[in-house]
Amino acid sequence: MKFFLDTASINEITSLNKTGMVDGITTNPSLVAKTGQSFLDIIADICKIIDGPVSAEVAATDANNMIKEGHKLASISDNVAVKVPLTADGLIACKALSDAGTMVNVTLCFSAAQAILAAKAGATFVSPFIGRLDDLGQDGLGLISEIHTIFSNYPEINTQILVASARSPRHVVESAKIGADIVTIPPSTLRQLFNHPLTDTGLKAFMSDWEISGQTIL
Ligand code: G3P
Repeated sequence: MKFFLDTASINEITSLNKTGMVDGITTNPSLVAKTGQSFLDIIADICKIIDGPVSAEVAATDANNMIKEGHKLASISDNVAVKVPLTADGLIACKALSDAGTMVNVTLCFSAAQAILAAKAGATFVSPFIGRLDDLGQDGLGLISEIHTIFSNYPEINTQILVASARSPRHVVESAKIGADIVTIPPSTLRQLFNHPLTDTGLKAFMSDWEISGQTIL
């Protein structure tokens, strides 16, 4: 399973990239707005740090302008994945950009039917938002399972399931059990994945016993 980091913060990306666990980045207009910096500069800077796909979302809502913006975003770097919303216009843009050889991430997917459309439009990634479905009392992980079953029925589908709006280690583990290709998580959730209280207490005990032994390795 690949881990993408769901942030536009250069500091967080630089810091967590050192763990070797970051396979790509997803951004969205809300995450970019939080930084207060220029969108195009941020994407260029992220692409200098990360080799994997970096999602950059169009701001237009009509297909023609989405395609124009998509070409501009894709020209920043070969690893930009243009993010388009799951609307009829977004899917027209997805098809055009994919046909032109650009990676496309179709975002704001909330149903299996929408995911099928994204695959038919040639999306590289489809992003079902599981946390936001959970917020409504619906079953976000159930949607991932449904999409995974459908895509598995059609070996010709190359669209990868990018689990988005994942907010906890449990979301990550359950998505991996289902077989989702990628999960995108906030920096805080990636940090949580490393932690277990028994690791901390176990290490403390080992270090204390080692000190008592009086030995050194180097
Ligand atoms: O990048 C899209 C998605 O991951 C947003 O997550 O927590 O705002 O629903 P959230």
